[in-house]
Amino acid sequence: MDAIVIDGGIPLRGDVRISGAKNAALPMMAASLLVDGTTRITNVPRLTDVVTLLRLLDRMGCKGSYDDHSLSLDATRITSTEAPYELVKKMRASIYVLGPLLARFGKAKVSLPGGCAWGPRPVDLHLKGMEALGAKIELEHGYIVASADRLKGARINLAVSSVGATGNIMMAAALARGTTVIENAACEPEIAALGDFLNELGGRVAWTGPKTVEIEGVESLDQGSFENIPDRIETGTFLAAAAITGGDVRLTRCRPGHLSTVLSRLEEMGCATSQENDTLRITAGGRLRSVDVITEVYPGFPTDLQAQIMALLAVSDGTGVIQETIYPDRFTHVPELNRLGARVTLMGNVATVRGVSELQGAPVMSTDIRASSALILAGLVAKGQTKVSRVYHIDRGYEAIEKKLAGLGARIRRIREEGP
Ligand code: UD1
Repeated sequence: MDAIVIDGGIPLRGDVRISGAKNAALPMMAASLLVDGTTRITNVPRLTDVVTLLRLLDRMGCKGSYDDHSLSLDATRITSTEAPYELVKKMRASIYVLGPLLARFGKAKVSLPGGCAWGPRPVDLHLKGMEALGAKIELEHGYIVASADRLKGARINLAVSSVGATGNIMMAAALARGTTVIENAACEPEIAALGDFLNELGGRVAWTGPKTVEIEGVESLDQGSFENIPDRIETGTFLAAAAITGGDVRLTRCRPGHLSTVLSRLEEMGCATSQENDTLRITAGGRLRSVDVITEVYPGFPTDLQAQIMALLAVSDGTGVIQETIYPDRFTHVPELNRLGARVTLMGNVATVRGVSELQGAPVMSTDIRASSALILAGLVAKGQTKVSRVYHIDRGYEAIEKKLAGLGARIRRIREEGP
């Protein structure tokens, strides 16, 4: 198993290029199952989550070729409509194959994903959505067994603005008979991008309100090509890396408009930011000031950047309070940050972070993708050496993070660690 070793204390400087969005690439890859032909997605990040989904698609007979950052997926000859437990358990986003399989083949058998480090994470809204479109859903031996004749458009009001449920329903509705309206839909940029991707393939997806999306079903989708959007969570993580080290960094090939809330928080903390087209610059110096943060659905502060902002607050001046409203249990990074000398206390879904003047390097363990990146951020500023173990989590969601950070001057390297 790999670990990442960091010697903290270097202000980051220079340019870093942002990769394509993982959470947009994954549903687009699943959507390729809707097409009797080949789809091409460019700007796909090289991540293990992408490889896991490629394996799953391959198991179904969808042939992928991944050249540099371009992905071609040929779903002409699908031989299986089953997503087995051993692949789904590695990545919950595998549930995204449910909608496309049902819509194109009228059947799907997908393992229930189960819980994860952030708590229960149910998929009830995905299932209710499919039922509303006319599917019959049964749960058998840990699997979702779904069947339908042609799906039929429906009006669906989501109890929670779930990203995954919105995406799954959108893909299923793309080939349904008639029109589907999703109210209280997630409007995260990754879901908007999925809609644009479907439209590129001949689908009819239109946003008729800030949280309302209408999908007019079509008989079939065509082959097509689409450029994936930049990853706003990777962008936010590099902004945080510059901020925590008092650096001066230009992030290129990103979409600054997707990070308005994050940028205003960083400015309140004392960072200066500027943007020009697809480039963002952040400059920080002196001690950051604490702020309060509430995670919310887009365009609010993303839960996927909660751990990273906590690392910043850990060394800021004053006390900051973080309220996690999306995943109330998503705090596995707290004890690890505290091992580095942070002073974070937890009460339910609220973390109180009392800023300290210095963190101290220590061996820590990562527990999920974003928790890992928060530990790396802390390591960048901690005195001495920090070793972050179990970095397979980070490889799920960040492309070559240690190389990108080293390119900005950080003293960081990957080592091979003995397994248990
Ligand atoms: C996606 C992202 C994840 C991000 C999250 C919230 C991907 C691959 N993952 O996850 O990185 O942290 O959005 O921005 O894009 N819920 C239900 N029932 C459901 C589905 C969700 O109650 O059927 C609840 C969840 O428990 C959670 C909330 O809805 O409290 C939001 O979850 P959701 O938006 O669905 O997250 P994911 O799509 O799993």
